[in-house]
This record gives sequence, structure tokens and C-alpha cells, in this order.
Amino acid sequence: MSDSDFLPEGSVCQIGAQRRLSEPCSIVIFGASGDLTARKLIPALYHLCKDKLMPSSFRIIGFARRDKTDETWRAELRAALDQFSRTKPVDEEVWKSFAANLHYCEGDMTAAASYDKLEQLLNSFGSAPLRSHLLFYLATQPSQFGIVVERLQAAKLLQRGQNAGSWQRLIVEKPFGHDLASARALNEELTRYAEEGQVCRIDHYLGKETVQNILMFRFSNSIFEQLWNRNSIDHVQITVSEAQGVGARGGYYEEAGALRDMVQNHMLQVLALTAMEPPVSLESEAIRDEKVKLLKSIRPLTRRDVGRQVVRGQYFAGLVQGQPAPGYRQEPKVKPDSSVETYVALKLYIDNWRWSGIPFYLRTGKYLPQSVSETRIQFRPTPNVLFAAQCGASLEANALSLRLQPHEGIYLRFNGKEPGMDVRVRPVRMNFSYDAEYGAYTPEAYERLLLDALVGDATLFIRRDEVEAAWNIVDSIRDEWGGKPLSNREFYAAGTWGPVASDDMLALDNRVWHEPRLDFP
Ligand code: BG6
Repeated sequence: MSDSDFLPEGSVCQIGAQRRLSEPCSIVIFGASGDLTARKLIPALYHLCKDKLMPSSFRIIGFARRDKTDETWRAELRAALDQFSRTKPVDEEVWKSFAANLHYCEGDMTAAASYDKLEQLLNSFGSAPLRSHLLFYLATQPSQFGIVVERLQAAKLLQRGQNAGSWQRLIVEKPFGHDLASARALNEELTRYAEEGQVCRIDHYLGKETVQNILMFRFSNSIFEQLWNRNSIDHVQITVSEAQGVGARGGYYEEAGALRDMVQNHMLQVLALTAMEPPVSLESEAIRDEKVKLLKSIRPLTRRDVGRQVVRGQYFAGLVQGQPAPGYRQEPKVKPDSSVETYVALKLYIDNWRWSGIPFYLRTGKYLPQSVSETRIQFRPTPNVLFAAQCGASLEANALSLRLQPHEGIYLRFNGKEPGMDVRVRPVRMNFSYDAEYGAYTPEAYERLLLDALVGDATLFIRRDEVEAAWNIVDSIRDEWGGKPLSNREFYAAGTWGPVASDDMLALDNRVWHEPRLDFP
């Protein structure tokens, strides 16, 4: 027996250094009047402060056009924090010390003079690190990234690479372009005056604990990883369903659609983590290398494949969880004859040694019956003898669900004997629930991602080649869809699990979508 067998229950292994930044720094948020700042960024930074993860000295500067004083900005943010903070009520002491570090800089992102003003403000803090350790959050339209980066460089606020005693980083959010060509152009703009290593592209799914846990689950346990291949697995289903509709985001959605909004980023990231090979180390580049390799191993879809392996859908009016919901075409800012997809299902193959021949079914949609995200690993059935021979299709094959949200956890389904005089087999489950194990501590994705950007850990940010590999897949689908109008089989009533064409796609493979149930996953 090895020493490790005697480790006391609950022993914890800390990997890497503690994630805490000690050196002072300033965070500049461009587009600070937007929703993101009030709803996500400030609550996340406040919690980092509350958890004592921020450096002892820091400043947060909101840069936007509207005329405001520090005081009015602070008051606005305080009201928003009362509403959006994940812990309530807001801690007055923490807020007081946090708010003292909030400053507002009224400026025009295109005007050089505004950057001089920003520089003066940074200088006024009177500390070299607060002027030279800089995190720029570009919460702006992507079309403005180029000019902001150029102006920052001209004002000597942004320098290429890491220089002695100083660093600058840029954070951007999706959409990372609207196709491969525009993503490349955007990447060029971002890296004109900064190195790739200075760019943090956020996909908030990677900030979720359960998504991060996929790698840990796979590579810190030997029992499952041995089964994680075509010999044991029949297929994989990844579902990201939402019970909400498009709502007020019709204008954005008309440009994006579910494929760009969810598949290009979140879903392909979950797929990459589920299916990638073990990285050579836990270094960020090693992990990102494997994700890129995986994305590049996805079999390209020919035009014919798109017809057979991709289903799009759009919701019409229906009932969602008992409440009436409008059709997509009736949503504000949506064209009355729009063919934009609010649902996508696709079957992908990964052409590598581990996964050859195994289908990965992905689906996502708005106004589905529930908001659930999960990866379900469906194992192969037992040989058709003994119980299987007796029970036929009613003997379920084993399945492992990685529930990403809600009821975060991992569930293994296997068969067991129902107690009693008869011999009755039925599926039972073993489950690990985050709530039961760790209580309700679930930090917001943005807390983790902002902290990583501050400490310079790139693992959870999307590298340029990842973005481009993902667009390659998505572009082949969009090219085939072109401007084709939706057919009747591509509509679904709000509150149902998507268009019939999606069920048909699986039926052709003798499979069905697993309906994620909140009580028995
Ligand atoms: C965003 C999409 O990136 O992710 C939204 O733009 C979607 O359309 C959201 O609703 C889903 O995120 P979550 O964390 O609620 O699953």
C-alpha cells in the first residue's frame, strides 16, 4: 500500500502558487457606462476585494463618454451592486474601502486628448506600479478595439511585451469576429501593439467551476479516464439549453444566431475540454495546445454533411414553464420574416485515435423547457446476454452526466436490483453534488477570470488559434445555410425541446436525446 492510501479524508492538494496578486495595479474599463460593468465587472471586483484577493493598492477607472464625477459613478455602481451582488447585503466596510478606489474618466475613445487625460489621472495616483501595471478591459464594440489599442500605444500606456517592472494586458469579450476572416482581422488589430500573451479573450464558460472541473475530473482520476475512448463510449451529448428567450437582445441576436452566440465559443470549449488529450503539463500553453489540437481534429463538414449533421431551429409562440412566450419573429428588433436560428443541434466526429467513429451530439437553444447545461457520456451497452437478453432495450446503458448548471454535480447511472421477491432491474445513480459537498459557494465566473487576468494566468482565456479553429467549423455551416429560409420542420414551439428535425437526426442513428431532468439526471 502506498503512502497516499493513508492520506486523511479531505486532504487537499494546492496546485501552483496561491492566486493572489500582491503588486499594485490599475484597471481601466473602456465603455464603463455599459451593462457589463454594473452587472458583472464591479460586483466581481468587489467580491475579490471582499475575499482579500485584490492587491493592497489598486485603482479602477471607468472610461466613458458621459459626463460624471467620481461620486456620481460610485453612487450608480453602489445601486447596481445592491441589485446584482451575489452576496447580500453589501458589506458597508468593504464597500467603503473598495469605492475609494473607483475613479471616473470622461473621454472619447477615439480622441488622443482623452488618453492624455487618462495618463494624467494614472500619474496622479503617485505610485509607479499604479501607472505601469495596467489591465485594460475593452467593454466596447469590437469595431473600436483597433482605435483604443492604437491610442493606448501612442499615449505610452500600452507597451508590447512584458518590460522590467511593468506589464499591460487587454481583456476582450466575444463576439471575436463574426466569421474566420473578421476574427483574423480583429486579432491583427489587437496584436498590432501587444503580444498575443497580453490579450485575454474571455469565454465566461471557462470561468465556471464545473467547466474547470472537467479537466480535473478526467485527469486526476484513473477509473474514468481509462474508459474515456471509443472502446467504452457509444456517444457523447452536450446540451446547453435555456428557458429564456432572446428578450431585449433581438438586435444583437439577428446578427449572431445560436451558432455564433453559443456554439462557436461556449459549446466548442466544453467539447474541447471533454475530449482533448492529456496536456504535457498544467502550464497554460500546454492545456491550450491540446484544446487547439482537438478543435483541429473535428472532421470538417462538407455541404452534404451540413444537411445531415446540423439542424437549426427557431421558436414560435408557446408556453415555457407554464408562461406564454412570444415567437422569435415577434421579439423586439427582429425581422418579421427572420431566418435566424435560436436553436442548433449538430453531430460532430473527432478524427483522432481516441474518438474515431464516435459521434458527439451538441445542442443549444432558447426557450427550451429548462435551463440546463451538461455533458453526458453515454457508455456502450452490455453484450446481449443475461440481463440484456431478457430486458432488451429497457436495460439502460451506463451514463455519466457532468452537470455544469444548475444542480452542479456529476452523476453516474448504472443498473441495480430493485429490492423484492421479483427480479427487477432498474437504473439507479451515484451522485456528487457541489452543494452537498461544498455548500452554496459559487463564485461568479468573472471573479475567477478577472483575477487570472490580474495575475497573468492565461489558462482560462481563449488563444488566437483556438478562436480561429472554432470559426473554421462554424463558417462551413453558415456558408451552407446561406440566406436559405427556414423550412417548417425547423420551427419549434417555445417550451419544447427543439424542432423535430433534431430528433430525426438522432433517430437515424438509433439514438435519442437525453432529456436532462433536474431530479434524476
Ligand atoms: C452568452 C450568450 O454568451 O451566454 C447568451 O450571449 C446566453 O445568449 C449566455 O444566454 C448563457 O450563459 P449562462 O452562463 O447563463 O449559461
